[in-house]
Amino acid sequence: MAKSKVVNVAAVKKLSPFRYPGGKTWLVPYAKAWLASLPHKPTNFIEPFAGGGIISLTVGFDGLADRVTMIELDDDVASVWQTIFGANAKWLWRRIEEFEISVENVKKELESRSTSIRQKAFQTILKNRTYHGGILAAGSGLIKSGEAGKGISSRWYANTLSKRIQGIYELRSKFDFIQGDGISLLNSYAKEENIVAFIDPPYTAGKNGKRAGKRLYNHNQLDHEALFDVASKLKGDFLMTYDNDTEVRDLARKFGFVTDLIPMKNTHHAEMTELVIGRNLDWLSDMRKAKPVNQWLFDPNAD
Ligand SMILES: C[S@@+](CC[C@H](N)C(=O)[O-])C[C@H]1O[C@@H](n2cnc3c(N)ncnc32)[C@H](O)[C@@H]1O
Repeated sequence: MAKSKVVNVAAVKKLSPFRYPGGKTWLVPYAKAWLASLPHKPTNFIEPFAGGGIISLTVGFDGLADRVTMIELDDDVASVWQTIFGANAKWLWRRIEEFEISVENVKKELESRSTSIRQKAFQTILKNRTYHGGILAAGSGLIKSGEAGKGISSRWYANTLSKRIQGIYELRSKFDFIQGDGISLLNSYAKEENIVAFIDPPYTAGKNGKRAGKRLYNHNQLDHEALFDVASKLKGDFLMTYDNDTEVRDLARKFGFVTDLIPMKNTHHAEMTELVIGRNLDWLSDMRKAKPVNQWLFDPNAD
């Protein structure tokens, strides 16, 4: 397998209000190259495990598909997308702008039980920005020293977050958000022509894997074989990403898919390789030959 260099995430437009654990900002140039290699512009781009949704947002903002469908099971994450694409988006960006960030105020806000989807959305963004690694799963907690000793506010960029939400809200007519199970919803699109899917599931399979999904997401159990089966039945093309693990590579082989490795850096700046899976990954070799995006350096903490 040819080696490509690591991508500079600072050169990728940040569109999501989330700093998402396992987020795919570093994959943006690759996803664009994949979409550009398709014979037709997709009518619908589907992301069945949307999380922070950077790939979906990029596709919507850059007009790389007519429509974008984001799917996510988690209640907290779903509340954010429902609010941003709905009637309470303005309430949310104003709430972010007006919130006075301090340990005391964060604790007070997060102790109060949310009584509405929009409040849950605000609390989720607040947690995502003040919890260690942006992790929303049970067991996570407030960052202590934060970036450059700035403590709790080190990732709270109120104006930037507000602007990102406003930007997404302006384009809301292009997006559908569905809260539900990614595998069964993806299956419901299987027979549609000219749809494509970007599939980035929580990873808990594999004996050798780090089973990172368990620590990062509240929903982390998935029937990976069933997911591969649905992918194999899609009329349209797909791109999947996983941790580089033998069990996953075996599954890919079983279903007749091809795999390749893309280097990335995790939040601890360790260089790792992420597995990409598809029916045809020729675009990846073409991209390596052309190599415009392969020269950049990657800053995993830029969010
Ligand atoms: C690896 S993350 C996706 C990250 C995303 N690609 C990004 O760039 O932010 C996987 C996501 O799948 C969600 N998830 C877990 N089980 C799910 C299911 N059955 N259906 C839909 N989403 C699920 C998790 O909550 C998590 O947000």
